[in-house]
Amino acid sequence: MDLVFVPIILLGVLIVIAGLLILADRLLGGGGERTVTVNEKKELVVRGDDTLLNTLSDNKIFIPSACGGKATCGFCKVRLLEGGGDIKPTEEPFLSKEERARNVRLSCQIKVRENMRIEIPEGLLEASEYRAKVTAIEELTYDTRLVRFQLIEPTEMDFKPGQYAQVKVPGLDVIRAYSIASNPANKNEVEFIVRLVPKGLATTFVHKALLVGDEIILTGPYGDFYVREETEREMICIAGGSGKAPIRSILYYLRDKKSKRKITYFFGAKTTRDLYYTDEMRQLEKEFENFTYVPALSEPDEDDAWDGETGLITEVVDRLTGDLSNAEGYLCGSPGMINACIDVLKAHDMPDENVFFDKFDL
Ligand SMILES: Cc1cc2nc3c(=O)[nH]c(=O)nc-3n(C[C@H](O)[C@H](O)[C@H](O)COP(=O)(O)OP(=O)(O)OC[C@H]3O[C@@H](n4cnc5c(N)ncnc54)[C@H](O)[C@@H]3O)c2cc1C
Ligand code: FES
Repeated sequence: MDLVFVPIILLGVLIVIAGLLILADRLLGGGGERTVTVNEKKELVVRGDDTLLNTLSDNKIFIPSACGGKATCGFCKVRLLEGGGDIKPTEEPFLSKEERARNVRLSCQIKVRENMRIEIPEGLLEASEYRAKVTAIEELTYDTRLVRFQLIEPTEMDFKPGQYAQVKVPGLDVIRAYSIASNPANKNEVEFIVRLVPKGLATTFVHKALLVGDEIILTGPYGDFYVREETEREMICIAGGSGKAPIRSILYYLRDKKSKRKITYFFGAKTTRDLYYTDEMRQLEKEFENFTYVPALSEPDEDDAWDGETGLITEVVDRLTGDLSNAEGYLCGSPGMINACIDVLKAHDMPDENVFFDKFDL
């Protein structure tokens, strides 16, 4: 054979292979056009077979995803009305019996390979992606700092006091949830209270690398932990560590509203080194007639000179509360602390439906 024809034959073979690959891709559902219908009103036309979570995010619908799609947070739930295939083993631990019956799924574990109809909470359609700039960093304790962000684009976040936002850690494939600690009246700023977790990816970044002037991407607002306003019920707030963040936002909101609700805020810490914003809370007590702040130390040092409450926060709440059958509970912190406190509130007759909490799951 004349060597002149070799490149032409090779090219021909390559074209045939490429054609076969495209055909196979179409037949297997990889490259065609599909639609994802959201809440029966928004129709997204998509190509490729990315995950549902990423497909929604590409279309500016931001589902909570604290683990960034690794099936370890269980936050990215949506309800499938059509399409999506069977539940994967990675989803199983996060789905209750009721959720399975309603076809609730983890959107990060579903590939968009067919037309789909999904349902998400209406509030999630309000979440956006924000470019934000660090304007202040304040040390609150030896392991906890406040970071203030100014929102650059878009410039305002309309959040309910108690909700959280997600931070994308630049350079790392890491997304983490942080409760918004600031007053919702200031829509151009959000503050986070971040406690350093040894070897933690996001918190090490926030504590060791993040500087005033840095830009970062946030998404939000998210979450159904926010102050309920249908009633004027007494409120029992309980927090530990960085769990103070969403309660602070709630308190500023209620103070500005001149709320008359009776509010007792129990804050659990080990020693005085772990207390912060005590002056701020005392100031709030002056500005806010029915508000009482009760910090409590579980392991006070001898030289702490502490004359406040001592003991586990559960013991302190138990000791200082009476009948709570007409009160609401707002709890924030580690899952262990929250579970133990819920038991105490229930023992004081607080109804299940009046207990609201945000567990800072790892
Ligand atoms: C809704 C919500 C709101 C939250 N709000 C806040 C907030 O306002 N402030 C705040 O500081 N955090 C908050 N968190 C927790 C936060 O999202 C991160 O999980 C936390 O900051 C650790 O992230 P990391 O990347 O540094 O650690 P990772 O890299 O995720 O963890 C590293 C290692 O440390 C362990 N670990 C992680 N966190 C802890 C911990 N707290 N204690 C002990 N071990 C841990 C992990 O299991 C892992 O082995 C919130 C979480 C949720 C779900
Ligand atoms: S994003 Fe965390 S489980 Fe899906």
